[in-house]
Amino acid sequence: MYTVKDLHKTYGGVTALAGVDFEILPGEVHALLGANGAGKSTLIKILVGAAQPDAGRLELDGAPVSFTNTRDAADRGVAIVSQELTLFPHLDVLQNLFLGREPLAAGIALDRRAMRRIAAPVLAAIGLDVDVSRPLGSLRLGEQQLVEIARALLEDPKILILDEPTSALQATETERLLGVVRNLRDRGVAVVYVSHFLEDVFAVADRITVLRSGKVAVSRRPRAEMTIQGTVRAMLGEAVAHDRRTSETVAFDDASGSAGSLVLTGVAVTGILEPFDLTARPGEVVGLAGLEGSGARAVLDVVFGRLRPSRGRITLPEGGGWPMTMNRAVKAGIAYIPADRKRLGLMLDVSIAENISTVKGGPLKRMGMVLGRRTMQRRAEHWRETLNIAMSSSAQPVGSLSGGNQQKVVFAKWLEADPSVILLDDPSRGVDVGAKDDMHAIIAQMAAGQKVVLYTSSDLEEMAKICDRVVVFFGGRAVGEVGGEQLSESVLMEAINVGGVDEGRTERLRQL
Ligand SMILES: Nc1ncnc2c1ncn2[C@@H]1O[C@H](COP(=O)(O)OP(=O)(O)OP(=O)(O)O)[C@@H](O)[C@H]1O
Ligand SMILES: [Mg+2]
Repeated sequence: MYTVKDLHKTYGGVTALAGVDFEILPGEVHALLGANGAGKSTLIKILVGAAQPDAGRLELDGAPVSFTNTRDAADRGVAIVSQELTLFPHLDVLQNLFLGREPLAAGIALDRRAMRRIAAPVLAAIGLDVDVSRPLGSLRLGEQQLVEIARALLEDPKILILDEPTSALQATETERLLGVVRNLRDRGVAVVYVSHFLEDVFAVADRITVLRSGKVAVSRRPRAEMTIQGTVRAMLGEAVAHDRRTSETVAFDDASGSAGSLVLTGVAVTGILEPFDLTARPGEVVGLAGLEGSGARAVLDVVFGRLRPSRGRITLPEGGGWPMTMNRAVKAGIAYIPADRKRLGLMLDVSIAENISTVKGGPLKRMGMVLGRRTMQRRAEHWRETLNIAMSSSAQPVGSLSGGNQQKVVFAKWLEADPSVILLDDPSRGVDVGAKDDMHAIIAQMAAGQKVVLYTSSDLEEMAKICDRVVVFFGGRAVGEVGGEQLSESVLMEAINVGGVDEGRTERLRQL
């Protein structure tokens, strides 16, 4: 049993925790919820020794403890899978799994055979089927996240803390992970589960604690006594009672006027995408749905100049053809908002204002112009208000923001360049429900501003909600399109898994 009492933590002028009590019991899954910036990661970091509280007490099995680092905590059976990836991309999977505690055999040589043997059942349990000699960086993000989880499981922890473990996982991987979590619980492990996916939380949690602005809003309530709606209300507090900002207040310059469509004709990428046609008109949000490897996401890479088509033609809204490099893509008015804010999105140690200016500032700089600091600050202020970014100052390094607020900065920096084509790759991963609504409003507004918007996501519910129509990919082929009344989460779910859109389905359902 792990109990903490009256934890306080401030960062500079920002209060992250203001007197938090928290308790973790063996054999329970305890969900820790809260809006972006509520203090979840801070609490967890203190639990595992990655941060020190300003005040408060920690007791493990009845005795006071203080951990100076995560190794200390791991030695006492407390393991964490943190929100940001902490592994080493250039090392291989096996090395990452045993980082800092390789078993030694015959002197100093690392016994990779033993490591493989120990890792195998854990990898099998979480369904990670990759060659462990591959560099971690060559795995897709979801697989890397599973490696993080496997690494924590290999510690054989008594208390396992998962900070948004499923944010990069696909539906099937998430299901399996939830199975693993239940299994651990049944074996008496205590699991702390942090997530913005409330449906997953309700599927797995025994108890729920909600933080709001660094305080406990709901404490250890049994799941059966809570509803998703009630939980959202507890997370957002007053904010939900007020009208959420309406899209009218979000204004975009419409410099592109009635610019044309994005047209892909017979575009193919050897081994990844078979020839397909796609016309995305200004004012539309076009979804690209498909399982990992289906080719849906590859379409974004092609348009952004990251993946070279082997044949076909691409015409951009502002005229001009395939951009060939990402730099040219940016100059040609294409924005790419990635899911992986850490590696593709942001410079964490640089200020918010500078990060927001990088895209626009980049091409301008090459023309000999530099954005002044004051301009940068003013633009950062604009986006703080538009996107509701919780920050104390635009001079703050991005790395000091909470995960969800970092993702908003990614949004801001790409929108700042006033693009004509916006490519969204799972853009709201890790942001809370309130911010999600803000982002949906912004996406709708971008479309209304005559931008071409292509959108891909693992969240099919969100996709059905914000897209005008969705093109479904399966095994590298565009197999169909869903739009209008037919567009729903369940239709998409079926389509991406069976590789087709059953035109008659909705009709049949209606007749039942
Ligand atoms: N290293 C830091 N320096 C400055 N401020 C910080 C730092 N870490 C966290 N904060 C601030 O403390 C508050 C709590 O952040 P925390 O990361 O705990 O939120 P969270 O609940 O995990 O949010 P999210 O859902 O977005 O991950 C936020 O206002 C955040 O900006
Ligand atoms: Mg967090």
